[in-house]
Amino acid sequence: MADIHPQVLRARSRIPIVEKKIYFDNAGAGPLTLDVYERVKWFLDLWREEGEPWREVLEDIVNARREFASLVGAHEDCVAVVPGVTYGLNAVFASLKIKPGSNIVVSPFNFPTSFHTLHAMRRRGLISEVRVVKEYNGSTKLDDYEKLVDDNTVAVVVDYVGWLSGYREDLRAVSEIAHNHGAILVSDAFHAVGVVDVDVEELGVDVLLTGGYKWLMGLHGAGFVYVEKNLLQELEPMFAGWMAIEDSVVERMLRRERLFERPFDISDYKKPSKASMLEWGTWAAIAVEGTLEAIRFIKKYEAIDIYELHTKKLVEKLMDGIEDSGYTLYTPRDRFAAIVSFKIKDSYRVASILRREGIIVSARPGLVRVSPHFYTTLEEVEVFIEAIKRIASST
Ligand SMILES: Cc1ncc(COP(=O)(O)O)c(C=O)c1O
Repeated sequence: MADIHPQVLRARSRIPIVEKKIYFDNAGAGPLTLDVYERVKWFLDLWREEGEPWREVLEDIVNARREFASLVGAHEDCVAVVPGVTYGLNAVFASLKIKPGSNIVVSPFNFPTSFHTLHAMRRRGLISEVRVVKEYNGSTKLDDYEKLVDDNTVAVVVDYVGWLSGYREDLRAVSEIAHNHGAILVSDAFHAVGVVDVDVEELGVDVLLTGGYKWLMGLHGAGFVYVEKNLLQELEPMFAGWMAIEDSVVERMLRRERLFERPFDISDYKKPSKASMLEWGTWAAIAVEGTLEAIRFIKKYEAIDIYELHTKKLVEKLMDGIEDSGYTLYTPRDRFAAIVSFKIKDSYRVASILRREGIIVSARPGLVRVSPHFYTTLEEVEVFIEAIKRIASST
């Protein structure tokens, strides 16, 4: 195992699945680490022995906001802990002031969830049009954003890394196009956060969303929304709840007050100045505990820091091996993160052959998607390439 970076080797000892399988499905869901498992067990044990760990939950909501904020270069007040990307997206759009006749421009590579939200808004008459940018075999062109974004565009909604093609969008450039027309840039960065460096200011995003259970290797039910500070002040929530108010229990805890000593003011809604305005009700606490621990894991083992040195090289090796085997890549070679997909008619059959050999990938329509992470080794990539060469020569 001479090729392995020491951090990778240490991280692997905390990821039981790698002992038995080559796990290339982080784009589906990341593997469970012992750290996350132990944290959840600690939380449940505490509950069993002491009763509901409510104070720990509230403290860890604040810790989760803080850890996520530092991961993406944001201020913790600009981060909300939500159940996932879809919830976050809907909470943001339910708070955005939208002029009649506005349109929204989207990338063709977005995960379906944003399309569903935007079409629902269109049907409701909140926006007049959803404009989809053209796709060029796995990529987009900035010119097409230029053509579609106009002064009636309220938002440009672009996933940072495409869930199928793995295309890594030039968010900075799209952000300039959006901002030139007074539109905001909303980006679902689920396939980027945890594996590649994400800095909200460098990318120029106004809203960034991610979930916990893929590249962060956390749990279903916890995700994050970042909202740029000026936009945050402009939001006017259509929906709220007792966690989304200025005087919430989290704020009371931060002010070291007793949580329920004063009644809540139910005569009105007072918007907080923080992104907590998007946290409507009680969180999926177990998921937050697990995901908080997962972010600490990603930091501890320098998952993102070793992307250029390690993960990216493995991804390129995978691309070479896939092409050498005679398959056509769908992932563009010039803009990617850690998803590699290739075209294949019977993708389910190929994925199940690989599964029988202990290699976990995902099948998507006409595509096999391979998604290694920082804990992947060169040896694992080589075993995968040998396997697809065999499959290619036998069909
Ligand atoms: C890019 C992307 N966004 C969103 C989702 C779904 O997120 P959630 O169900 O947590 O809202 C997925 C799931 O695969 C995804 O790949």
